[in-house]
Amino acid sequence: MVSSVLAGMGVALAFTVYVIASGWRSNIQKARKTGLPYIIVPIHPFNPAWQLTFWFWKPLIMAFPKSWWEGWLFVLLPNWEYVTRQEHFKRLGSDSFVVASPGDLTMFTNDADAIHQITMRREAFPKDVARYGVLAMFGSSVLTTEGSVWRMHRKVTSASFNEKNAAHTFAEAIRQTRGMIDLYFRMEGGTANSTKTITTLEHDTMTWALNIIGYVGFGLRLLWPGQELPEGTDPKLVKYGSHDPPPGFSLTFGESLAGVLDSIVTLLVVNWGLLKLLPFSFAKKAHVAKEDYLKYMAEFLHDKMEDVQAGSPPKDGMDIMGQLVRSKYGKGDGKDGQAKLEDSEIIGNAFIMTLAGHETTANTLHFTLLELANNPLAQRRLQKDVDRLFGDSDPSTWDYEKNVNAMLASHIGACINETLRMIPAVTQVPKIVSADSDQALVVGGEKRVLPAGMGITLVALCAQRNPHFWPTKPSERTGAATDLDDYDPERWYRVDSSRGGDSEEAEDEGEDYGGFKGENTSASMFRPARGSFIPFSDGPRSCLGRRIAMVELIAALAVIFQKYSIELAVDAWASDEQVAAMGAQERRQLYRRAQDKCRATIDEATTVITLKLNGGKHVPVRLVRRGSERFVRDEALL
Ligand code: HEM
Ligand SMILES: *[C@@H]1O[C@H](CO)[C@@H](O)[C@H](O)[C@H]1NC(C)=O
Ligand SMILES: *[C@@H]1O[C@H](CO)[C@@H](O)[C@H](O)[C@H]1NC(C)=O
Ligand SMILES: *[C@@H]1O[C@H](CO)[C@@H](O)[C@H](O)[C@H]1NC(C)=O
Repeated sequence: MVSSVLAGMGVALAFTVYVIASGWRSNIQKARKTGLPYIIVPIHPFNPAWQLTFWFWKPLIMAFPKSWWEGWLFVLLPNWEYVTRQEHFKRLGSDSFVVASPGDLTMFTNDADAIHQITMRREAFPKDVARYGVLAMFGSSVLTTEGSVWRMHRKVTSASFNEKNAAHTFAEAIRQTRGMIDLYFRMEGGTANSTKTITTLEHDTMTWALNIIGYVGFGLRLLWPGQELPEGTDPKLVKYGSHDPPPGFSLTFGESLAGVLDSIVTLLVVNWGLLKLLPFSFAKKAHVAKEDYLKYMAEFLHDKMEDVQAGSPPKDGMDIMGQLVRSKYGKGDGKDGQAKLEDSEIIGNAFIMTLAGHETTANTLHFTLLELANNPLAQRRLQKDVDRLFGDSDPSTWDYEKNVNAMLASHIGACINETLRMIPAVTQVPKIVSADSDQALVVGGEKRVLPAGMGITLVALCAQRNPHFWPTKPSERTGAATDLDDYDPERWYRVDSSRGGDSEEAEDEGEDYGGFKGENTSASMFRPARGSFIPFSDGPRSCLGRRIAMVELIAALAVIFQKYSIELAVDAWASDEQVAAMGAQERRQLYRRAQDKCRATIDEATTVITLKLNGGKHVPVRLVRRGSERFVRDEALL
């Protein structure tokens, strides 16, 4: 009896080993056949069990001689692209390499030409939606589907992303940025000309983005602490916008959404039934947030249906959910054969819009502010452009249509581009070779055939620092051979490059995938080689919210830098009195220490959902009225 059980187990084990080994061998053969450099790894980098436990295995593996693991371990470590950048591409002598594990085969590339072809040929290289499946927890959506289902989602949702709504978003972003500045100057410990040291920039930019996305997604007016809703606000909106949760809820809408986003990893990993039972505070927090969020969604859907059925005109503002509901329940539906979303899909899309549009935009503002504090010269140039465009005028009078193009084509746009190049929220874009057939692709100037079903990871972060595709000069900051690891918005003014050009259309175009298409920045600006700058991805599956995100960000920068400068705080090294007594030379030395610390902290960013400072890491700063700077005031100090 015992022996037959043992024998059975032996057979099962042998069979498992055989399956793994033969899968591995076949993947290695396929990798070799591509002709690209390949590395062999014992487990797939995206294997969830590995991702949760890699910290345990890493030191065990590294206890072996370095030569055993240095060629492959890197690709299994989360965040390797941000930590090692060009290193491994250089070592492998190629901008693309293949990784073969027992269960999977994936190409990693930072080759702009390859990336360009892949993003343009959507049917040959669809999105690897399996990696997004978990994000469908509130219903399927435009982000998590492919093929004809995606096409339908994209059609219906993209209707909201038009210039009229971009203009509404611009005005709301101005309001929200002023709310953030007001809050900072109301905090105790500052003066009329300077806030006290701010250690919460990451959190506050998240609130900023959340408040805007509440408006963009749901037509809500969300408030900063201490703000009140204006008289005459729609009572339905008061319910969701006030500082206290409405009856029946334990969180406000903003808190529930922030709570879901904060707890997203927990919600994705832990089973819902189990979560209810777990006695831990993180589980409770996640559970309460999700439960309230779902209730809010159900109420929104209901309220918006009522509005539509009562024939109320659309709200004056961007309201993606309202528009989705109108497209389903409104008049004229069905006549034009327009596809319709299920209720769960309306909620799924509303959730995805908030997820996709929240942290990404917040991080970009956060890092732009830090980089500008860290690079006073860039900050000065930005302020010059803001002055040129707006002078002293009141931001509430700024006109979207009149100003947006000039803003995008100025240092305002250049600073944002430079942040998106260096510290993109999304560092990798997952694609796949269509399961239907092998696909030919020109990689590194040579035609390669990639096997059907192979994974592809576009390593956006590395492509955006790849000297093979970006003009460079030696770094003045570090003396490195290229300046691609330096934050230098001026690079967007360099004349280039025969390569650029944004005008090309995707292969399966001829169809409108929505989103902003215009050129609309100055023709004299630098155009990166196609495929070398993909913070919003590219092609038919590029970011639907790109225009909205850029509009939010330019509004924020213009409002802040019209009146204020941002400086790194130096409390760690000197008190205010000590700084006041310092001469120029001493201040410069002090600021340099703060700059080194800031750079080191930014380099510690990691990706959980998006690339950001995690685990309480932060860079302390102060917001000061222009003219009252302590460090970045005199040209000599810049
Ligand atoms: C700086 C801010 C942003 C960045 C860096 C960013 C980046 C991206 C990237 C890289 C993708 C492609 C993902 C993939 O293929 O795996 C994407 C898709 C998407 N983004 Fe954004 N995004 C930003 C802001 C926004 C905003 C504000 C919204 C909405 C209000 C939004 C909505 C979407 C949607 C709906 C998709 C899916 C499009 C599709 O698959 O057809 N994004 N975004
Ligand atoms: C603030 O700055 C203005 C000019 O920039 C100056 O006139 C004023 O005295 C400053 N106030 C304080 C409290 O330092
Ligand atoms: C930012 O990048 C986009 C995309 O390449 C480009 O079209 C635009 O001109 C850039 N903006 C500036 C100010 O250089
Ligand atoms: C941007 O587009 C508008 C039309 O929407 C056009 O009038 C304007 O000239 C364009 N700006 C640039 C700089 O190309």
